[in-house]
Amino acid sequence: MGVFPDCTVFPDEGALSYASRAGVSTRDATTASFYEAKALMAVRPVLKMGHPLLARVAPPVERFGTRELRDLVVDLDDTMRALNGAGLAAPQIGVPLRVVLFEVDANPRYPHVEPVPYTVLVNPELTPLGDETEEAWEGCLSVPGLRGLVPRYKSLRYRGHDVEGRPIDRTVHGFHARVVQHEVDHLDGILYPMRLRDLRNLGYEDTLFPDGLAVPPD
Ligand code: NI
Repeated sequence: MGVFPDCTVFPDEGALSYASRAGVSTRDATTASFYEAKALMAVRPVLKMGHPLLARVAPPVERFGTRELRDLVVDLDDTMRALNGAGLAAPQIGVPLRVVLFEVDANPRYPHVEPVPYTVLVNPELTPLGDETEEAWEGCLSVPGLRGLVPRYKSLRYRGHDVEGRPIDRTVHGFHARVVQHEVDHLDGILYPMRLRDLRNLGYEDTLFPDGLAVPPD
């Protein structure tokens, strides 16, 4: 761990997953020099509730397809995977821009959770479809260890762009809609505990779900 000073959690897993996606052999990844290892690694510390950057409204991205934007997405991706999150927003790693990333694979740990396709969403705009909301448990990498019962719109349309500026326009429901609402809230300085109808529905995950059944944090 000592050679990965910028990485707070699971640095080796992060390096190996990045290496495998980049087509680098795992042997090369694990024996890389300090500087090479830093270049392979992009796991960034996640800011926690109380940090002022998490409470700010982030400005939009103005130029697509830049090196900076691509690098930001690599960092978001590696950090989300290293922490087993369902999503991550740029302000959570200290970058005040309207960029979010999410993906939920089918996972035996969360059998009731629907998969959500891998999506990088820049400058998102959400339009709720109807007034209907539903409550479900959420967690957040910026609020570690806690879960809360959060009301969200059941259906919505979201629009935005990918890293290269290609438009994204989807109509989604249920868990997919929830993940998007959670992530986009991060761009407006809102963390899920601020959405709770009743603070009695906020608690520690290991106490609320001693059998481990919950949803991945995002
Ligand atoms: Ni979150």
